[in-house]
Amino acid sequence: MILLACAVVVACLLSGTTCAPLACENLIRPLVDIPLDHLEGTWALVGSSLNRSLDEDALKTRDSVTFVSTNSTFVQRNRIGDKCQSSTLNVTKQGHVMTLTGANYVFTATFHHTSCETCLLFRFDVQSASHNTTDLYIVSTKRELDAGVKEEFAAQAKCLGLPEPIWMDPTKELCQS
Ligand SMILES: *[C@@H]1O[C@H](CO)[C@@H](O)[C@H](O)[C@H]1NC(C)=O
Ligand SMILES: *[C@@H]1O[C@H](CO)[C@@H](O)[C@H](O)[C@H]1NC(C)=O
Ligand SMILES: *[C@@H]1O[C@H](CO)[C@@H](O)[C@H](O)[C@H]1NC(C)=O
Ligand SMILES: *[C@@H]1O[C@H](CO)[C@@H](O)[C@H](O)[C@H]1NC(C)=O
Repeated sequence: MILLACAVVVACLLSGTTCAPLACENLIRPLVDIPLDHLEGTWALVGSSLNRSLDEDALKTRDSVTFVSTNSTFVQRNRIGDKCQSSTLNVTKQGHVMTLTGANYVFTATFHHTSCETCLLFRFDVQSASHNTTDLYIVSTKRELDAGVKEEFAAQAKCLGLPEPIWMDPTKELCQS
């Protein structure tokens, strides 16, 4: 995938303005036959691109974010300084789409290709009473990703019309519970 991304960049340079659709077609590849039980486990949030500045501001107050996915729940643990807070969403799965339901939000998660082998890349379409928005997340069993993966993620966010990613500080502790 890294090689492919390079080839795409070269094609862009040669062809000028026609490069964007070609690059994005290769960069944004929904995974439609992902086994959803593969998502179960504990994941550290590494990077995200959030389409609302309010959500970006909220994320910036958090030192780390951990997601714990089981077959029926999706728990988010936020560390803010020495405090941990957690919230639990109910999960339903249908085909390749995972729907997370909370008290005030419904998140529709779809998974996308990433060249990172320890990662999950997912797009969240968020619906609430007050707004609808789209976010892109990359989570991993590792805390830090290769520069190539981070560049790929930034390009993927750009393809979706989303802002520059926010990268979490890998030195900050995760919440264990
Ligand atoms: C979900 O997990 C629970 C507890 O681990 C287990 O008892 C149940 O059978 C699982 N359900 C499915 C549909 O896999
Ligand atoms: C999640 O499911 C549990 C058990 O079915 C239910 O009691 C709870 O209200 C649900 N929570 C939300 C936020 O929908
Ligand atoms: C969010 O999207 C849903 C479904 O498309 C729509 O019914 C609802 O009105 C939207 N809500 C807002 C606040 O825009
Ligand atoms: C992000 O927000 C902008 C401004 O509200 C909107 O035009 C755009 O469609 C949104 N992008 C996505 C992917 O939701």
